Amino acid sequence: MKRIAIFASGNGSNAENIITHFRKNNRDAEVALVVCNKPEAGVIERAGRLGTDTIVMTRADINDPVKMLAVMDEYKIDLIALAGFLLMVPAFLIERYKGKILNIHPSLLPKYGGKGMYGKHIHEAVVAAKEKETGITIHLVSEECDGGDIIFQTSVPVEPNDTAADVEAKIHALEKEHYPRIIGEIISVTK
Ligand code: GRF
Repeated sequence: MKRIAIFASGNGSNAENIITHFRKNNRDAEVALVVCNKPEAGVIERAGRLGTDTIVMTRADINDPVKMLAVMDEYKIDLIALAGFLLMVPAFLIERYKGKILNIHPSLLPKYGGKGMYGKHIHEAVVAAKEKETGITIHLVSEECDGGDIIFQTSVPVEPNDTAADVEAKIHALEKEHYPRIIGEIISVTK
C-alpha cells in the first residue's frame, strides 16, 4: 500500500475528502500523515476525528532537511499532496520527491496564480474581472510558485450574479470530485 502525506495550512476540507476517498474507494494507497504549519488550523481537528496522524511543523522545521526528511522516512511517504498549504515547498523536498508532489490551485492557471493568489482572493479577483469561467488546476510542484507542470484542469461557468462565495462553492465541488482521483492515478504509476 502506497503512503500519502497531505500538507495543509487551513480548513482542510480537501484533506478530509482525500483521507476518506482512499479508505472507501482506493485501497492501493492511504493518507498516512497530515503535515500542518498552523496549530489552530481546522485540518488538525478533521484529521484527528478521522484518526489520521498529524504533525505540526514550523516553517523552520519544514525547511530543515534533517527534520523534514526524518518525518518523511518515519512515515515511509511515497507521495505528497498539498491541499491549501500556504508555504513554499523547500527545494530539497522537491528534489527528493521528483514528480511526486502535487498541488491543487483553485483557478485555471496561469490565470490567478502566483504570490498572494490564494483562497478567497482568487475568487474575488475572478468575479471582479467578470470572468465567464473559472476552474481548478492540479499540477506538479516546482520551485516556482504555482509554476509546475499541469496534470489536470477543468472549468465551471461563472454566472453574472455569482458572488465570490458562490464561485468558491463551485470550486470546492470540483476539487472534491477530482483531486483524490488524480492523486490515485499519479500514485499508481509512481515507483
Ligand atoms: C482550496 O481551494 C485549494 O484549492 C487551495 O486552498 C483551498 C483549501 O481549502 N489550494 P481546504 O483547506 O481544503 O478546505
